[in-house]
Amino acid sequence: MNENYIPRHVAIIMDGNGRWAARRGLSRDEGHKAGAEPIRIVLKAAQKAGVEFLTLYAFSTENWGRPEDEVQTLFELLFQYIQSEASELMASGVRLKTIGAVEALPIFTQKALDEVLRLTQENRSLTLTLALSYGSRAELTWVARELAAEVAAGHRALETITPETISEKLWTRELSDPDLLIRTGGDMRLSNFLLWQCAYTEFYFTPTLWPDFDAKDFRAALTAFAGRERRYGLSQK
Ligand code: FPP
Repeated sequence: MNENYIPRHVAIIMDGNGRWAARRGLSRDEGHKAGAEPIRIVLKAAQKAGVEFLTLYAFSTENWGRPEDEVQTLFELLFQYIQSEASELMASGVRLKTIGAVEALPIFTQKALDEVLRLTQENRSLTLTLALSYGSRAELTWVARELAAEVAAGHRALETITPETISEKLWTRELSDPDLLIRTGGDMRLSNFLLWQCAYTEFYFTPTLWPDFDAKDFRAALTAFAGRERRYGLSQK
């Protein structure tokens, strides 16, 4: 594969845990549990390929509407993942980040996250960003309010608000925009994920359910990406 065609930033909507479990006569919790392994696999494969940013949609603002038990299971799994992976993240030089309203998460999860965020902050091999209690519209609303407050306070002139100003305020400001967005589970929509950031992102949809997604599937997405011609609104060569 041509190295120049490796996406710098890959974002993933990990969908299909529930259906994966239902097909096996298992509970939804079992499906989510099985969803932790592909995260490990994809992280390794992304690092090996030279991807710089990997961003995973782990819990959306809309996911709060799921049954309380399921929400609890998701946070317990997240807690276990962070605890069990901390040393591996250090060993492989991965920096952990979060985007979203993390303050809405249970305290035990926030504490575990804080610890690993601090522990891995100097790592530079790959940045793994977990979107937690994340919604793109909430993020953009927050940016609008911040900018409006600066203007209202007389600290900013209206004309200084540009697309760049907005990008610099977003929770993703330390990341480049995604080059490739993968969604598993067969649906073809963004579901309130990185709406602003995906203006020129290439999309890759696969029917594979998230717990079945493996390194071979990830490489297939990279190969599809390498075959795309990105024109950014310009005319064909
Ligand atoms: C969608 O499956 C997935 C989620 C709601 C969140 C992703 C969660 C995991 C991958 C579990 C492990 C997470 C971490 C961070 C260790 P779904 O329930 O919507 O599936 P369905 O569409 O088949 O019902």
